[in-house]
Amino acid sequence: MKVRAIYPGSFDPITNGHIYIAERAAAIFDEVIVSVLVNERKSAAFTVKERCEMARDSLKHVANIKVDSFNGLLVDYVKQKEAAVIIRGLRAMSDFEYEFQMALMNRQLAPEIETFFIVTDPKYSYVSSSSVREIFHFGGTVKDVVPRVVFEKLKTLHKGK
Ligand code: PNS
Repeated sequence: MKVRAIYPGSFDPITNGHIYIAERAAAIFDEVIVSVLVNERKSAAFTVKERCEMARDSLKHVANIKVDSFNGLLVDYVKQKEAAVIIRGLRAMSDFEYEFQMALMNRQLAPEIETFFIVTDPKYSYVSSSSVREIFHFGGTVKDVVPRVVFEKLKTLHKGK
């Protein structure tokens, strides 16, 4: 039986930390779908289309990774995709409380779906999409923590503001 896993997130934008988690998930599961949340309530720096394009471009080297977007409840989307697993990355203990609560909530909603945590590489333990946006905005260098396509796209964001 082939096991499909969903790696959900805001990916605003995707970072090398996310890519690391997606690659490791793809080495374990038959298919991984990186799924960008369409969240009307939360304002994002990049559109869903842009976030998907950046993710697709930076993960094209992994054959069993696809990129998609979703709205509504994650567990409903996971069922619709006939996936069995939700992937989440952990950077530090401070991530754990929120992640644990989300995993339990999702289990309550859909007990058949498993949440699978992958621990980041220590070199990405401090990397987040929001810090990338902020560092870039104030002129710091983010070249080493985002894929090239994101680095180029950040420049257009900067110009637009
Ligand atoms: O990258 P993020 O912002 O930490 O990802 C959070 C995400 C997208 C996984 C979470 O907000 C989510 O699943 N949202 C969809 C709505 C939902 O199912 N909420 C209940 C989960 S407790």
